[in-house]
Amino acid sequence: MAKIAVIIGSVRQGRVTDKLAKWVNQEVAKTAESEIVDLRDYPLPFFDETIPPRYNPERKLTPDVQKWVSKMGQFDGYVFVTPEYNRSIPGVLKNAIDSLDNGLVDKPAAIVAHGSTGGAQAVASLRITLPGIGLVSLPNALFFSDGVGDAIDEEGVIKAEFQEGPYSPQSQLEGLATAIVKYAEALKSVRA
Ligand SMILES: Cc1cc2nc3c(=O)[nH]c(=O)nc-3n(C[C@H](O)[C@H](O)[C@H](O)COP(=O)(O)O)c2cc1C
Repeated sequence: MAKIAVIIGSVRQGRVTDKLAKWVNQEVAKTAESEIVDLRDYPLPFFDETIPPRYNPERKLTPDVQKWVSKMGQFDGYVFVTPEYNRSIPGVLKNAIDSLDNGLVDKPAAIVAHGSTGGAQAVASLRITLPGIGLVSLPNALFFSDGVGDAIDEEGVIKAEFQEGPYSPQSQLEGLATAIVKYAEALKSVRA
């Protein structure tokens, strides 16, 4: 069974992204081994190494960075759940990505974004960044405006009105979950 990480891209107090991630994780968990990876559990220093990690076989890792790199290396695919901050992704998420090495090469990533204007620039920004560490960025992405947090309860269930119809958020999430699991299985052979 494919192992999928659902990454919470915000560490802000009072954040909304964790509720979205819970909703996403529950859907992915129907067909894969899915796990939320919360950046709050991986506090990292600002990246300041002399050589990009992907090109540094002699890299010496501090325990904090090692914990993050090892965790992220365990998965076959990733769903980044991120807010848009200042027309991009939060700095904490970019720093966490910059801290990764070759461990994610040829693995797939899908994106779920939100923001007061829908998160499109966070998606665009992340799609530029992810191939930098070798991830394969899928066409699938979900976009939400402010208020999405109110639509999802503490258990990660989205309100009934958002579950109806082929273009509902729930249907779109099902499509994204199907795609990330499918690509996670398929790209195993690319890495073999
Ligand atoms: C510093 C900051 C910058 C933001 N910039 C944008 C932005 O450029 N575009 C946008 O659509 N929303 C923007 N927002 C709104 C956030 O995307 C929205 O508040 C979202 O809920 C934040 O996610 P979080 O609560 O999980 O941190 C910004 C919010 C913050 C805190």
